[in-house]
Amino acid sequence: MESKNSSLVPLSFAPTVSEAPLHTLYNNDKNNDNFFIRNHFEIPDIDIADWKLTVTGEVPNPISFSYQDLTSLSAVTIQSTLECAGNSRATVNPPCEGLLWNNGGVGSAAWTGIPVDTILSMAGVNPNAKEVLFLGCDNGSENSESIEDYGMSIPLPKSRDKHTILAYKMNADILPSNHGYPLRLIVPGWYGMASVKWVKEIRVVNEPYKGFHQSKYYVFVKPGAADNAPLERVSNMKVKSLITSLRRGQALEIGEHIIQGIAWSGVDNIDKVEISTDNGRNWEIAALDPPLSRYSTQTWRYYWSARQSGCYLVSCRATDVQGNIQPIAFEWNFRGFANNSIHTLPIQIV
Ligand code: MTE
Repeated sequence: MESKNSSLVPLSFAPTVSEAPLHTLYNNDKNNDNFFIRNHFEIPDIDIADWKLTVTGEVPNPISFSYQDLTSLSAVTIQSTLECAGNSRATVNPPCEGLLWNNGGVGSAAWTGIPVDTILSMAGVNPNAKEVLFLGCDNGSENSESIEDYGMSIPLPKSRDKHTILAYKMNADILPSNHGYPLRLIVPGWYGMASVKWVKEIRVVNEPYKGFHQSKYYVFVKPGAADNAPLERVSNMKVKSLITSLRRGQALEIGEHIIQGIAWSGVDNIDKVEISTDNGRNWEIAALDPPLSRYSTQTWRYYWSARQSGCYLVSCRATDVQGNIQPIAFEWNFRGFANNSIHTLPIQIV
């Protein structure tokens, strides 16, 4: 299902789950073939002539759109990063449940589509509405649950935010089927699970959706949590940075080296990225590029003058404008969601 030009690394074949190699993440915002894929079920078989988007629930004017109706509405383009909530799970210790993503479950693209608010304004929204449920055309059963469509509800204010869109283009290409053709939701700032692909229905509801992925899967389960303990939902992406220009264990010669990488946060722009080459004892500021948008990764670079041979631990740590900083260890949870602990690579100077 992946293009021949893709350098994605498979984590699962059925359904398709693949991550991008670390070195491809720097300035990779235009390459759809190298954008990670996270499908929970098989890609749905959609005939565009039959496909429609329906708007139902707490709306005075239920409405439906063909692909042509939608693409003739006034569109916007948003540069936005998606990170899978399970990204960087492979390094979590003690181990957690789930596919072992390294760090390549993150990608950025320019998404073109219709603000959800435009659609909601056409249908109207009843005063008791609280959330907007987005249902995909894909379905199946996981963890012995009954068969259901993949779906997520988003609080009404976030759904009506002008940056939350129903996208039909990815970097000016028709949305690829792996990424949700013909229509996907983009919820900027939230982990990727909220950006529902292959959307077929928008249902305005008066309470959060209780579907499996929203209420049982993409939730933080603390160690030893009781079965009926209230579970916090995964939502905003935590501040994070990755070194993309070095490989684990890479040998470099004594001299000057440029270390570069990416940083992002779901809640605000990045304020600074710091680099340590001595296992976190001393930190120095990296040069940070401005973001393409509030919701997109920022690139950074650091000039390392390596004067002595030896074994080094090179780390990067980002802080966002609201003062959120990456921790040494993140808060362990059963599925290892939102691991934003500091990225460190062992490097040899020879
Ligand atoms: N939407 C549907 N309908 N089905 C899915 O399996 N996976 C979600 C989200 N939207 C998913 C979905 C998850 S967990 C993530 S991380 C993102 O899509 C991944 O988007 P991508 O495959 O375009 O990278």
